[in-house]
Amino acid sequence: MKVLYGVAEYYPLVKTGGLGDAAGAYTKALSKRHKVYAVLPGYSKIDRKKYGFKPVKGFELSIPIGDRDVKGYVEKAELDKNLTIYLICNDEYFDRENLFGDGVTPYKDNAERFLFFSRGILELAAYLKEIDVIHLNDWHTAIGMFYLKEFYKKIGKIDKKVKSVFTIHNLGYQGIFWQYDMYLLNVDWKYFNPEGLEFYNHINYLKSGIIYSDIVTTVSPTYAKEIQTPEFGFGLDGVLRKRADNLFGILNGVDYSVWHPWRDKFIPYKYNKKLFDRKLKNKIALQKELGLEVNPEQPMLVMVSRLIDQKGIDLITPVFDMLVDLGVQIVILGTGEKHYVDFFNWKEHQFKGKVVGYMAYNEEVAHKLYAAGDIYLMPSKYEPCGLSQMYAMKYGTVPVVRNTGGLKDTVIDIDEGIEKATGFKFEYYSPYAFYEAVRKAVTLYKTNREEFKKLALNGMDTKFTWEKTVKEYIKLYKK
Ligand code: ADP
Ligand code: GLC
Repeated sequence: MKVLYGVAEYYPLVKTGGLGDAAGAYTKALSKRHKVYAVLPGYSKIDRKKYGFKPVKGFELSIPIGDRDVKGYVEKAELDKNLTIYLICNDEYFDRENLFGDGVTPYKDNAERFLFFSRGILELAAYLKEIDVIHLNDWHTAIGMFYLKEFYKKIGKIDKKVKSVFTIHNLGYQGIFWQYDMYLLNVDWKYFNPEGLEFYNHINYLKSGIIYSDIVTTVSPTYAKEIQTPEFGFGLDGVLRKRADNLFGILNGVDYSVWHPWRDKFIPYKYNKKLFDRKLKNKIALQKELGLEVNPEQPMLVMVSRLIDQKGIDLITPVFDMLVDLGVQIVILGTGEKHYVDFFNWKEHQFKGKVVGYMAYNEEVAHKLYAAGDIYLMPSKYEPCGLSQMYAMKYGTVPVVRNTGGLKDTVIDIDEGIEKATGFKFEYYSPYAFYEAVRKAVTLYKTNREEFKKLALNGMDTKFTWEKTVKEYIKLYKK
């Protein structure tokens, strides 16, 4: 089988969050069984030399966008035996400092940029021929599903037999643009209706991915159910319910060649279950590195996260001082909304030696936090899958999570019995409920270290492999 996989982030080439991790690891695992072509925007951030990208000669893009024919080119590199990466390039669109915007405000021409990318993916599919499945991800590629079904297949540019799968990694980002961006698309206004591209008088790219694909998936079984309800549907729950027969929740995995305390190239002291005590050395090393009080006995709460509402940061801020009063250290690594960044900077200043607000994106520090922490905080408002909690568990850092989406599917609460439990869960989206869950975790750490350690070891035993995810996707592809 040959699978063309379109996505806007890709670890290790370019990443801002879990989408990049998921795309890189999924296609790597899939390529062990099938031929995979992964297609990304040709961001200037991608190190062309390191991965050996070369232009694909004799294949140029010319994509009608509004009243322009926008030119582009394609580059290619072999990442692995069965894994080829293609970049859809146009320097006007992709030679920028960031991928999507300045972190808070999206780039003003995103409708155009990702239209160009999405159509570029289809042009590539037509050029490569013999593709069996086109698998697109999130809003950045979603409008491709519309063109695939309504144009490329109808005019025979892409074979009708080619199947399409669309994966939603996060329903909170839809690519909603004002109605006059319809002109960019160069298609009849007849498609601008509630059964098609229209969403409350705007265009909605993600919606087109849901409507025009053969199969829709999302990244955990619970999230697949949640998004069909008004609470989690972001206005698209009705559209999703209509597709319920072809909507599947398949859990992401973890790339344990990158995320494993025994193999981790970033952490000073490698460890595994047998050498669990060496985890403590990582904590001491981090305390020294970050200027925290060196005290291995103090429980360390850590978090590696985009600092946005989705992640439940507004549950942490009201009870932050109460958390510190529990006699813990807190280290937050993150970037995102300015008021959260200001908040954690202020708390670091207020609680010198006890709190660190590491307000940056840093892969190395992320690994060190997973390794050094005792308790991992992830009180998300919603969480399609969440990879961080799975990483934390592998590193024996016990997660405190809200019982939603992929967090619900991957963490087993202490109340289910110490034999199998891996963390602490709370239901209600309230700072107090969050605080209580953390207090429970910290109390166990301080009063019954053996039991706390058992939780950590259970977490280290978890196996969320991509091979399993891939098997389920292959079943769907074949279907
Ligand atoms: P999401 O994709 O919603 O951000 P996930 O839990 O699926 O959430 O994935 C988050 C990924 O991004 C993890 O690999 C996490 O370690 C990483 N990450 C988030 N913020 C940072 C940061 N500031 N520095 C380094 N890595 C980060
Ligand atoms: C999104 C989601 C996250 C998920 C990731 C990979 O970024 O927010 O929950 O783990 O995609 O699928």
